[in-house]
Parts: sequence; structure tokens; C-alpha cells
Amino acid sequence: MGAAVLSGLVLALTLALPALALDNGLALTPPMGWLAWERFRCNVDCQADPRNCISETLFFEMADRLAEDGWRELGYKYINIDDCWAAKQRDAVGRLVPDPQRFPRGIKALADYVHARGLKLGIYGDLGTFTCGGYPGTTLDLVEQDAQTFAEWGVDMLKLDGCYSSGEEQAEGYPEMARALNATGRPIMYSCSWPAYQGGLPPKVNYTVLAEVCNLWRNYDDIQDSWDSVLSILDWFSENQDVLQPAAGPGHWNDPDMLIIGNFGLSYEQSRSQMALWTVMAAPLLVSVDLRTISPSAKEILQNRLMIKINQDPLGIQGRRIVKEKSLIEVFLRPLSQAASALVFFSRRTDMPFRYTTSLAKLHFPKDAAYEVQDVYSGKIISILKTEDSFSVIINPSGVVMWYVSPMVLPAQPWHVVRQQAPGKGFHPVLL
Ligand code: GLA
Repeated sequence: MGAAVLSGLVLALTLALPALALDNGLALTPPMGWLAWERFRCNVDCQADPRNCISETLFFEMADRLAEDGWRELGYKYINIDDCWAAKQRDAVGRLVPDPQRFPRGIKALADYVHARGLKLGIYGDLGTFTCGGYPGTTLDLVEQDAQTFAEWGVDMLKLDGCYSSGEEQAEGYPEMARALNATGRPIMYSCSWPAYQGGLPPKVNYTVLAEVCNLWRNYDDIQDSWDSVLSILDWFSENQDVLQPAAGPGHWNDPDMLIIGNFGLSYEQSRSQMALWTVMAAPLLVSVDLRTISPSAKEILQNRLMIKINQDPLGIQGRRIVKEKSLIEVFLRPLSQAASALVFFSRRTDMPFRYTTSLAKLHFPKDAAYEVQDVYSGKIISILKTEDSFSVIINPSGVVMWYVSPMVLPAQPWHVVRQQAPGKGFHPVLL
């Protein structure tokens, strides 16, 4: 096909699409970076705890770590401020201002520092009278002004929380903020907590609208530093995957909340599990950990290249749980570009390593095909695995085995160069 014909086709298809409320071209793959909340919360006591309180020092130091310890090159680019950064009062003309003691140089200086290191800065706001932590919120009349302030500061991402607002205010305010961010002319990634405040499910949550308004959205409860919390989030996402899975795609993602790997609540196996499961769910990889003191083993999990390649797959299809065994083994599958797939074998057992035997045929792979398999954590390769071959994996208690499975021979038709769409989204041929 000639270039002119192709660009004509793309143009025709583009014109046929409805105008999106959020048209910022961002988050074509799940966003990656660092987010303060789970690890550092609302610690504002800089007298008693200067290294860990919410202050510009914390963000300057984390930016240095992201830039110098190999994170940025792997894609961890966003450094995100959460709640408790603001002064308790707006200024004389009603603008949000950072706490002058804790952010003496202001947010613009922090953004400049972050940008000079090839990173991007995220900030937190709340659609409502107060933030969840009791700081000034963004009521409907202040949406435009706050969007403007964030853009002037050079902010690249906004997490908009939903404490202290009604369902009606949220239905008006979240799309309004999307429009206000667009109107600033600065590309600002937009993370909405809207569905989490509405129970996360239809009919109260309309995922078609959400995908047009937000780049990512929190569907469910806050993550805490425990395995129980990880499991409860995983359970909710798996039980509701028929609703959630089709909602995700390039530019718009479900967000099961931060990675807590490297903190205090997860064992080594559980840390590997959170990373693998979040990756098959096409989740944003926003780590909330002290990057100054993170252990080598936690860092190795978070910096696994093949894992990140899978998370960032350009097709952007969210995976699903496809098997739930009585033996407490579950299998998750995520389709990837180049006709590849990611498989996660997850054990909920609490006794001992379990030998799980299955075949790719049982996992719905096409008949008579042959695959190369790479174990994502050990790096080991199985050079030929046929669909009908039976195989076993040994899965540790609360651990995973994760595979990258690619066909030895690509299918004869060039369908793998066509971007797949979530069901019901129409067909948009785009060369990868
Ligand atoms: C809510 C959000 C959290 C965090 C806190 C801050 O609970 O869900 O992620 O932002 O507010 O107060």
C-alpha cells in the first residue's frame, strides 16, 4: 500500500472517531514511576523526621535515585507527589500553594529539577472540599484555576482524588478537569480516583466514559503494606475481570494501586508475585518505596527487563485469570505483540512448593504450534514446547512462575502488525 493511500486511510479513520474528551496522546503503555503515598503517607513532621517527611528534599532525593540507579532508562520516569504537599490555605487570589516550610523552593523549581534529569513530575489534587488528608480541595468552581496552576508549574501528571465530593459532583468534575487540562495546552497525564468512589462497577461506573476522560483510574481500595491487601485487590480484579479487562488499552488503564515491593509487608516470593500479577494486568508500575535504601533483591524484581517489556507491550491488552484450580493454583494469560503471550502460574498454597502439570493446549493455545518459552525470573529457555506437550512448573507458596511464550514460526498472515483493539472498539489498522 502506498504511503499516501495509507495516510488517507488513517485520516479517514481518525475523522470517523468521536472527539475524545481527553486527547493528550499520553500513557500509550501503562505509566511507570514512583509515587510517595503508600510508603511516606502524610508524614509532615520535618522536625522529628527530616529524611522521610513530605518535603522537597524527599522528592529531590528520589529524583536523584530514579536518574542515577538505572530506573529512568527502564521507563520509571514519573515522580509523583501525593497528598499533604499543600499549605492549609490557598493564597490571596485563591491559588493552591505548597507548604512554604516543606517546599521552600516551590513546585516549579522541583519540576525544573526533575525535568533536567529526564524525568516527569506528578502532583495530587482532590475533587472536593478537602483532600483525603484534610488539605485544600478542588471544588467545581476551582477546577480550571487549579489545572492552570499545575500547568504553569510544569507538572506532567495529576492524580485527582475524590474525598469530600458527591457522586453528582464527581460526574461533572472529572470530565471538567480533563477538559481543563487539555485547555492548558500542556500534556498532563490524568489519573482519576472516580470509579473507586463509586464502587468500581457498572451501572454506577461507565468504563466507556472513563476511558475517554482519564488515562488511568483507581478502581478499588487503597493498597496497604501487606500480602492480605495485595490478595484482596487481586481477588476483586479477577472476580470482575469481565467488566475491567475490556476497559484497558493504550491511553487508558485500570490501576490496582502502587507496587509495595521493597517495603515491609511482602516476602520475597510475594514480591515476585505482585510484580508478575500487576504486569499481566497491564497495571501502571508506580513503586512506593524508599529508593535510597531499597534492597538489591527488591530492586532486581522491579528492574527485570523482560517483565517490563511485557508490562509495556504496545498492544496494551490486559490479561485475565484463565484457570482457578481446586489445588489453589491459578493461571493468568496476557496476549502480547508478535503473537507472544505471558503466562503467570500463581500458587495460593501455604504448605510447600507445588508441582503443577498442564499443557499449552489446556491453556487454550492453538493446536499444532510450537513455542519458545523463557522463564521471566530465572531467564531459562525451553527451546521447543509444542501445544500438546505436557509440562510441569514448580511454584513456591504465595509465589509465581512466569513465562514469556513466543511462537517458533509467526503465523503466515501479517495480522501481528495490526494493533488489536479491545472488544467493541472497532478496527483501527495502525502499523506498530
Ligand atoms: C486516598 C487515595 C490514596 C492516597 C490518600 C491520600 O485514600 O486513595 O491513594 O492518595 O487518599 O490522602
